[in-house]
Amino acid sequence: MAQLYVSTAVPGRSVPDGNDRSRSAPLARPHLTPVPPIGHAERGLWSAHDGQDRGRFCSVRLRLTRVVHPGAVLAYADPDRALAFLRPGCLPESEHVRAVRRLGCRVLEYGCGSGGVTLALARAGIEVTGVDLSQKMLAHLACALGRESPAVRARVRVHHGDMRDLILRERFPVVLVADGTFQHLYQHDDVRAFLARVRHHLVPGGRLRLDVELPDLRALGTPERWMRYYPLTQVVTRSLDGDPSLLLAQRQYFPAELRGLLERAGARIRTMRVATARQENEGGAGRTRHPRLVLHCEWDKPPHARGEERQTRSDRAGFSPGLR
Ligand SMILES: C[S@@+](CC[C@H](N)C(=O)[O-])C[C@H]1O[C@@H](n2cnc3c(N)ncnc32)[C@H](O)[C@@H]1O
Repeated sequence: MAQLYVSTAVPGRSVPDGNDRSRSAPLARPHLTPVPPIGHAERGLWSAHDGQDRGRFCSVRLRLTRVVHPGAVLAYADPDRALAFLRPGCLPESEHVRAVRRLGCRVLEYGCGSGGVTLALARAGIEVTGVDLSQKMLAHLACALGRESPAVRARVRVHHGDMRDLILRERFPVVLVADGTFQHLYQHDDVRAFLARVRHHLVPGGRLRLDVELPDLRALGTPERWMRYYPLTQVVTRSLDGDPSLLLAQRQYFPAELRGLLERAGARIRTMRVATARQENEGGAGRTRHPRLVLHCEWDKPPHARGEERQTRSDRAGFSPGLR
């Protein structure tokens, strides 16, 4: 059973605000609150799929010691509502399929969630290994997989885990982080840990494809009832349908910051472009286009070149991953 900790129990705050101080302050226990509702709600996922595709889902006992931002998990406890909000702003799956197919026939997809992109890839003949933190989202994926042909099902493997920590025994020609999953990395430490994992899982010459929202300063500055932007942490929080239990928090990455983070992690940017998401608001009037930032990069050096090993070790200090 995964144990998730969030940093919401800061006295005097009712709504987590994205100004997460827990990273700079020592992580004292009183500042960490287990999240029982998520655990309880999600318990039983694996037994629910007994006799179906359980073999392809890696049921692991996770021991997570990283802080999980509530806005990275709460909204996904209701996958239908989370997806209804997020999907209109996403790129068409076909774009990811085309790009991944050009790069290789096996992909590691972080934040596979309910499988929108995963299934499109698998239907196109690509082998997908998905990783996601939300068992609810993975349950959706498991149901959807049950409706696919045996050939498609055979191409999908799924791991439940945190993309900042999970280490698999396999390397891939492509790592895909679509639909803004990267925006659930709120701090530079998270990004550093995550990019070390990406690099670890890439074969030499492999590519990372990253797709995030392009921050829209006008929209961020326009007050909205259930949305708030925190400029100092660059985090947008939303209560989906006004329901505070469905909190979604997305870090806004400006292109220059993203480029800097990747380059500091040793990556070489191959392409960086602005793409437009697929859907418009219903009704035609006030049509909204959602610009996104799509980036491809690679690493010239193998993962554990001298000097970087130390960073990876200290990054993992005190952490014992449940799955290797
Ligand atoms: C925008 S959704 C992806 C939607 C997905 N493409 C789909 O079709 O359902 C982002 C996903 O990232 C996952 N996520 C958030 N933080 C994560 C983490 N630290 N490690 C792994 N997955 C994470 C969420 O559970 C969610 O499923």
